[in-house]
Amino acid sequence: MSTYPDDLRELIEKYLAGLRFSAIPETEGLDEAMRYSLLAGGKRIRPVLALATSRSLAVEPESMLPAAAAIELIHTYSLIHDDLPAMDDDDLRRGRATSHVVFGENVAILAGDGLFAEALRLFTEHQQGEPASVLAALRELLAAIGVDGMVGGQYVDVTQEELGAEQLRGLHALKTGRLIAASLGVVLVLAGPNEPDTIPYRRFAEELGVLFQIVDDILDVTGSDEELGKRHGSDERHGKLTYVSLFGLERARELAAESHRKAHEALAAVRGDPRDLSQITDFIYTRQS
Ligand code: IPE
Ligand code: IPE
Ligand code: MG
Ligand code: MG
Ligand code: MG
Repeated sequence: MSTYPDDLRELIEKYLAGLRFSAIPETEGLDEAMRYSLLAGGKRIRPVLALATSRSLAVEPESMLPAAAAIELIHTYSLIHDDLPAMDDDDLRRGRATSHVVFGENVAILAGDGLFAEALRLFTEHQQGEPASVLAALRELLAAIGVDGMVGGQYVDVTQEELGAEQLRGLHALKTGRLIAASLGVVLVLAGPNEPDTIPYRRFAEELGVLFQIVDDILDVTGSDEELGKRHGSDERHGKLTYVSLFGLERARELAAESHRKAHEALAAVRGDPRDLSQITDFIYTRQS
């Protein structure tokens, strides 16, 4: 297993653990449901990527914590909704019973909605930076999770009919790739390096997003419930088109290797310090969970 920038992971973990959402006793149950999923021990790949990008640009990672946390809140909302009976109908996530199993579907939906709204609040109320940069960074994030991003990708995923290889890459880029890319993109906007210097980062981020989802598809077949903290075989159960169902396991592994190599190639062109990002790339490729 590759190493990981553990100090950045600890930083975001601590910040997330300190968040409280409810101001009145009547909504404490909602706060509990939101924190149940948020603090269940995800890998924190997206916020760690954001903080690593910051450090790579020689900007204090601490200064990006609200934006990084907002990204993790949004990711967690997407997981809660992804697991709902009307979506992937999964009962295990991050090693725990899924939100709707514990709190009921109605509260699970609201926990997702709450995390989304609170993410926007965190970003707009606490992220430091020039107001124009904060707004531009937020726009980048919102573009990545809307119809031309994660939610659109989820739509294609649940309504998919006959998709070919090109469309599958497109689907992965939307449903997973864009939020991963935005984890770097938001920091690029906030930290504000020269525009040409952002291009290699963006190329890297795009490849990393696709690599992430190819590996996710492979692990859905090869992983165990214990390792993954979620049910393996979910894609097959739903007849989902994935890299494995389309290309077979062996070819999917080759494509992951190719994507991993391309991500490193892209990273080699960045002007900042690539070390943390390189570690995360290897972690995404070799992860077993
Ligand atoms: C799982 O994401 C959902 C996908 C986008 C495939 P992660 O594998 O990053 O899940 P956590 O955050 O570690 O639980
Ligand atoms: C979900 O993709 C991507 C999201 C936007 C949440 P999957 O359905 O493959 O994610 P897992 O495998 O359940 O984590
Ligand atoms: Mg899904
Ligand atoms: Mg799923
Ligand atoms: Mg999956």
